[in-house]
Amino acid sequence: MKADVALDRVTAGFKFNGCLEHRSLQDTTGPESLDLTEAHARRPRFPAAPASRNTHAPLRFAMTTLAPNSSARNMPADASAALAKLAILGGTPAVTLDQKAANVWPIITADDEAAVLRVLRTGELSSGHLPSAMGGYPCPHPEVLALECEFAKYMGLPVFDVGEIIPAFAGKGFHVAPNVLAHNNGTAAILGGLHALDIGPGDEVIVPSTTWWSSVLTILHVGGIPVFAETDLDTLALDPAEVEAKITKRTKAVIVTHLFGIPAKMTEMVDVCKSNGLKLMEDASHAHGATYKGTKLGLLGDVAAFSLQVNKLIPSAEGGLLIAQDPEVILKAARYAHYERLVPLKAIDHPYAKFAATGFGFKFRMSPISAAIARVQLAKLAERNALRNASCIALSKRIETASRGAICTYLSPGNGTERVYFEFLVRYDASKAHNVPIKVITKALAAEGCQVSAPRYPLLHQQPVFVEGEWAKLARLEGMAGVALPTYDPTSLPRTTANNGTLIKLPSFPQASPELIEQYAVAFEKVFANLDSLPTA
Ligand SMILES: Cc1ncc(COP(=O)(O)O)c(C=O)c1O
Repeated sequence: MKADVALDRVTAGFKFNGCLEHRSLQDTTGPESLDLTEAHARRPRFPAAPASRNTHAPLRFAMTTLAPNSSARNMPADASAALAKLAILGGTPAVTLDQKAANVWPIITADDEAAVLRVLRTGELSSGHLPSAMGGYPCPHPEVLALECEFAKYMGLPVFDVGEIIPAFAGKGFHVAPNVLAHNNGTAAILGGLHALDIGPGDEVIVPSTTWWSSVLTILHVGGIPVFAETDLDTLALDPAEVEAKITKRTKAVIVTHLFGIPAKMTEMVDVCKSNGLKLMEDASHAHGATYKGTKLGLLGDVAAFSLQVNKLIPSAEGGLLIAQDPEVILKAARYAHYERLVPLKAIDHPYAKFAATGFGFKFRMSPISAAIARVQLAKLAERNALRNASCIALSKRIETASRGAICTYLSPGNGTERVYFEFLVRYDASKAHNVPIKVITKALAAEGCQVSAPRYPLLHQQPVFVEGEWAKLARLEGMAGVALPTYDPTSLPRTTANNGTLIKLPSFPQASPELIEQYAVAFEKVFANLDSLPTA
């Protein structure tokens, strides 16, 4: 990019202080068949079942062929599982290892401690400050700018040396990422993004019901109207065809959440948006590091928001990152809620510089302590995603085999589309498992020691804020001329609602040993080998 073009873009971040396509169960020949990371592979393998059962494994296998129990005879894949007594019926639970350590998140090390101390010791715990020769005004904190640059590099977005644009800074190592803007949390990043996309009063934005509220309720605060569309069962994200069916003259944008780290169908989604002149925001808060057909999620829409809240794959204390293909969008988001970014714009006479004293009434800047933690966590993202992936992929394959297709685990289809495991939810199809109700399955798995539960997000289209009409007050749309206010029907979205009842949440195993994963696999094998014996009450 030429220096004169870049000049405009660079200054908002001025640094002065320096069930995807369901895989065949037989397909174990793909790259994922070697699914253990090096770290996992180095560990000793755990026996397939607790020693007490294994001692008699050959005998049990021989007995299976004679067993009167029909489900046992029908389950040659794991004969010993068929005969192992279910924990719910008084047998020994399959999962006996301590699960606390396996699920500790975030992983905080001396690197995080050193990063926090580094910031604390500077005494600059909020914004940075311009040199006194330039008025000493607030400007972005160097730690926050460094995070933006590192994230930009990670995403393949440009980073500029300010010195290449403004000679006074030549050789001083001042860098900015014009496509990235750090926020105090992911919710703020979404709100800033909506403002920057010019979503305003009465504009409709198509959203999923299955997401965290931030991807939807933020729309109200720019005066927009959320329009819920059905979920696609293959990805758990918005269904592009259903999005298209919801488009009206008032539709301005779509927000797609890559739920739990599973990439949405982005080729189709981008097509629908482009052909209808809609803006597309990716809520990539669950999907740091996931790819779609070889492209990192977050790079496929007009803007993307990433939460850095402490549970996320890049945990900070609290934080968020907004990225945009067009740096002008980032400047607009800066004008909205980052007044400290506007002061440096004076140096180039930028039209937004006149708002430097006020911004537009919000203050969304990220704490430098959070940024320091996020920098450390970003550097370890790939390694830590690989650990979760190794555990979840290995277990997924065992679950799909054990359940004979009754459970879809949302394994990645490959070809450059690789999910991550912010959360690990699987979909149960009772019609493929003797119509055993999901509650019976989860109860039996829980008795085996598995930490299983229903999805934790309530369906948003059924929430009182929408159904009882409070949303219109929040959006300040009541009585607005020319805007017909919709009502929200909790019985709408039948497919999404039905599907939500078929999901089972498992731990995402950020630090699990192969031994624990083996025990979980055995638990599923036991339960699905004994479907006919499960107590229904
Ligand atoms: C899908 C999704 N979007 C947005 C957010 C909001 O992020 P934050 O909690 O950082 O405000 C979250 C966080 O929980 C989320 O899960």
